[in-house]
Amino acid sequence: MEGDISLQLPAGQLAPSEALRAKHEAARDDFAEAVLSGLARERRSIPCRFFYDAVGSELFEEITKLEEYYPTRAETALLETHRAEIARMVGAGRVLIEFGSGSSRKTSLLIGALAKVSAYIPIDIAAESLREAAGWLSEQHEGLPILPLIADFTKTRDLPKAAQRRRKLGFFSGSTIGNLSHAEADAFLANAARLLGKGSAFLLGVDLKKPVSILIPAYNDRRGVTAAFNLNLLARINRELDGDFDLTRFAHDAVYNEAEGRIEMCLVSLSDQTVRVQGRAFTFAEGERIHTENSHKYTVAEFQALARASGWRPVRAWTDPDRLFSLHLLRL
Ligand code: AVJ
Repeated sequence: MEGDISLQLPAGQLAPSEALRAKHEAARDDFAEAVLSGLARERRSIPCRFFYDAVGSELFEEITKLEEYYPTRAETALLETHRAEIARMVGAGRVLIEFGSGSSRKTSLLIGALAKVSAYIPIDIAAESLREAAGWLSEQHEGLPILPLIADFTKTRDLPKAAQRRRKLGFFSGSTIGNLSHAEADAFLANAARLLGKGSAFLLGVDLKKPVSILIPAYNDRRGVTAAFNLNLLARINRELDGDFDLTRFAHDAVYNEAEGRIEMCLVSLSDQTVRVQGRAFTFAEGERIHTENSHKYTVAEFQALARASGWRPVRAWTDPDRLFSLHLLRL
């Protein structure tokens, strides 16, 4: 995708509109390419990073407040409970680098807990939410230099000058790492090691393996918010790529793949039908599926083994009494 043209947004000031417009165009092309090739495949799929347009980001916010969706609450509670110990182990004066920062809400808790953060660099492809988060966080933490980076965090190769030669703390929350396959997670952790460098620390939130009686409702809630979130992908294709998906003829589904240790979300065609996207026709049989997201779950030992494989040293893992979620501190 567009990944390698990352754009630095100067703190408190708009990026040059031309550069932003180029970004938008690249993003649109990226979406079109992914949808057209994903729908043409034998096993149809659309990458989950496209969930997060403005509507999707709002629906995700709503998901995080659902009774059935435990990860956000469990992770926030872990951060609150263990913030003093985390701060002690991480030490003062670090540059905080957040991967896939999204709304940055949990970040405020972390910044507040750490004795002193010398700069905050959130990395996200969503320019709008980056801008919002940067604004909100600079109000909460006066004097904190914020240097947002518009980029695909799996492909970020360089950090701004301000971060170089300073000790860094990586932060990757929300179990977003669960969206990556094991091979992709391995590559991400190896890239993060190179980016953050020797002497750095890395704090990650990772969802734990648990009974399907808890997992399935978290991804198929009674109010249908997750269904709306999943179906918004088709609505977004209609809005942005001149699609004609009939949203009443597709249904949300979430299953747990025991062998792979992951939730798999998809959209199921409720009838035989033909859909058009940017003039291209795609024919669906009743029951045919479009895969939209994987959400991998890890035991503490499984995640530590993954971290070790890319050169990180696991130094501490915190879990809640109900064993819903884990926070990992790694060092390099
Ligand atoms: C943001 C990737 C962590 O996998 O739990 C929530 C996304 N999808 N409900 C997750 C999601 C459906 C979420 N992550």
